[in-house]
Amino acid sequence: MSEPRIVSPRPNASEQHLEETLRPRRLAEYIGQDRVKESLTIAIRAAQERGEPLDHLLFYGPPGLGKTTLAGIIAAEMGVNLRITSGPAIERPGDLVSILTNLRPGDVLFIDEIHRLNRLVEEVLYPAMEDFAVDLVIGKGPAARSVRLALPPFTLVGATTRLALLTSPLRDRFGATYRLDFYDLPALRAIVERAARILHVPITPDGAAEIARRGRGTPRIAIRLLKRVRDYAQVMSDGTITAELARLALDRMAIDELGLDDVDRLLLRTIVEKFDGGPVGIQTLAAATSEEPDTIESVYEPYLIQLGFLQRTARGRVATRRAYEHLGVPYPAEQAILQVPLQGLNEGDFVEPDA
Ligand code: ADE
Repeated sequence: MSEPRIVSPRPNASEQHLEETLRPRRLAEYIGQDRVKESLTIAIRAAQERGEPLDHLLFYGPPGLGKTTLAGIIAAEMGVNLRITSGPAIERPGDLVSILTNLRPGDVLFIDEIHRLNRLVEEVLYPAMEDFAVDLVIGKGPAARSVRLALPPFTLVGATTRLALLTSPLRDRFGATYRLDFYDLPALRAIVERAARILHVPITPDGAAEIARRGRGTPRIAIRLLKRVRDYAQVMSDGTITAELARLALDRMAIDELGLDDVDRLLLRTIVEKFDGGPVGIQTLAAATSEEPDTIESVYEPYLIQLGFLQRTARGRVATRRAYEHLGVPYPAEQAILQVPLQGLNEGDFVEPDA
């Protein structure tokens, strides 16, 4: 697609500044993810009382749900610096050694997309996480020897959209793993209202609810929609975002009442119309829709699964009765029978590669 997708959960380049402005800085400002917040509150307080750095933490879940934000909040609550990097950005072991040796005691190191670290880099991370040390090899050939270098104690916060791609030695080294879920409507609405307040955008409660409903449970998307609707309100009306105005603006962007866009509908339609509702393998589905399998899995499917429109089964993707209803296509009787014996995958579905 030429234009960036409005409901993509990944940030566009131009959004970074806005995200920084709107990002909550402290746990008390952070809306939603209540279980994660509660558990973090206790862990932070306990670590502070002991005067120790926080345990290494792993966040997983679909993009746009606040993994980076939480890392920033953890650093702020602990009163330490945050160093942000990502799996693909750390190309060589030496890059990681240099980051680690430049940390100050207690600092939070955030590694986004941690499943994309290469093996050599990952091996540097093991002793760093476990013993706060790195093993350097000095010299070459028979004269080579290994020297252990002590690191300042630090907290690694890892984030991934693909938990299943993490090696088990890496997973085992985190003290706690938190799953971030899509936000419910009241939380997302509160996030839209908070963002509108900060941006000085007048919005009615119903207007915020309308945007939240189409925000796919994802703050990054809801805030992007808020910005687009704000422009519309400014040009087409008196600047205030009402429910009616939000509906008009979002309809015009071809985002339906559940936040689905053309690509989501194309995926569902393809399964329904070309593959009789499925099951269809991810590779076939990707070829039929000209999308990348990985993008379908980590970007499009999580929300469709969350809505109960799509199932991942051992034999491939299946469109559910709800998907048919949403598309306005009659649900065939054979499908109803087919769905029963198929074995669905559950917990952490969106992160699993093809069975
Ligand atoms: N902005 C984006 N995500 C947020 C959250 N979870 N709480 C408050 N403001 C936000």
